[in-house]
Amino acid sequence: MGGTLFGRDLVAIGDLGRKGIEDVLSNASEMQSVLEKGKRVDYLKNNIMATLFFEPSTRTRLSFESAMQRLGGGVIGFADANTTSTIKGETLADTVRIVESYSDILVLRHNWAGAAREAAKYAKVPVINAGDGAGEHPTQALLDLFTIKKEAGKLSKLKVVIAGDLKYGRTSHSFAEALSLFGNEFVFVAPEELQIPDSVYKSVVKNSGNAQKSESLSKAAADADVIYMTRVQKERLPKPEDYQKFEHAFRIDEKFLKSVREDVLLMHPLPRVSEISPEVDKLKNSVYFKQAGYGVPIRMAVLDMILNGDSRDS
Ligand code: NCD
Repeated sequence: MGGTLFGRDLVAIGDLGRKGIEDVLSNASEMQSVLEKGKRVDYLKNNIMATLFFEPSTRTRLSFESAMQRLGGGVIGFADANTTSTIKGETLADTVRIVESYSDILVLRHNWAGAAREAAKYAKVPVINAGDGAGEHPTQALLDLFTIKKEAGKLSKLKVVIAGDLKYGRTSHSFAEALSLFGNEFVFVAPEELQIPDSVYKSVVKNSGNAQKSESLSKAAADADVIYMTRVQKERLPKPEDYQKFEHAFRIDEKFLKSVREDVLLMHPLPRVSEISPEVDKLKNSVYFKQAGYGVPIRMAVLDMILNGDSRDS
């Protein structure tokens, strides 16, 4: 086991670097063989994970819980902060100070970008960021890269189109940052108002030296190896009435796919709304459901590396 994550927080993908990402992906392959054998292991039998979810989630929370249970650990937590003392005015810092005494690791989702970093300041146990507002979603980026490695067979020399709401979509931030460490070409496709934040763009240019912005999906996608589509983040738009303006900005349907390479990998962090038509689901290269499934081995790897490092007690 790589020791890079042992005892540490995972708040942003930049906390890992290329070597750290590679370690997680190779551990996730091991975890995948554990899963393929239909096994539960007891690598984390003495540990409890707390999931503190202040925002809605299906995949992230359930795959974290599944991962922890597959590793023999226990799970506590909440999926609706309205049932917690937050409603009585308790601060995030106090919630963290309490829950850390009930568990060995905290997995936090919050609507405020910066919440996970703040929680990590107070927590004595490691904190994993499971999505902080329009900030980052590092474990999603790890499972996205795992998907590309498994399905395209490589992580470099790819033309990658990242499309949709790149301003408020945190998955696009962590994904672009992570993949730019491996030498790829990027086109960020979004309406101008929803383009990728400057800080992410600059960092991708610095890492990969090869990035552009565009408003035309068909132009950018024609020779792409990977199309990473995202939904408009309705809940984060400053003016909710703007949603109508953007919701149909892009749509991938069977007709659109005639204009792209036959072997293009079509990805989406999910949930999708209308940006990928359901008729596309049956295509071999529509890997978004498989991608969501890779959340379990990736999160098993992350939990094991943070809590066990190089030494498992079993
Ligand atoms: C994403 C998120 O929460 O940022 N969902 C996920 O974790 N797979 C994407 C989204 O909500 O659009």
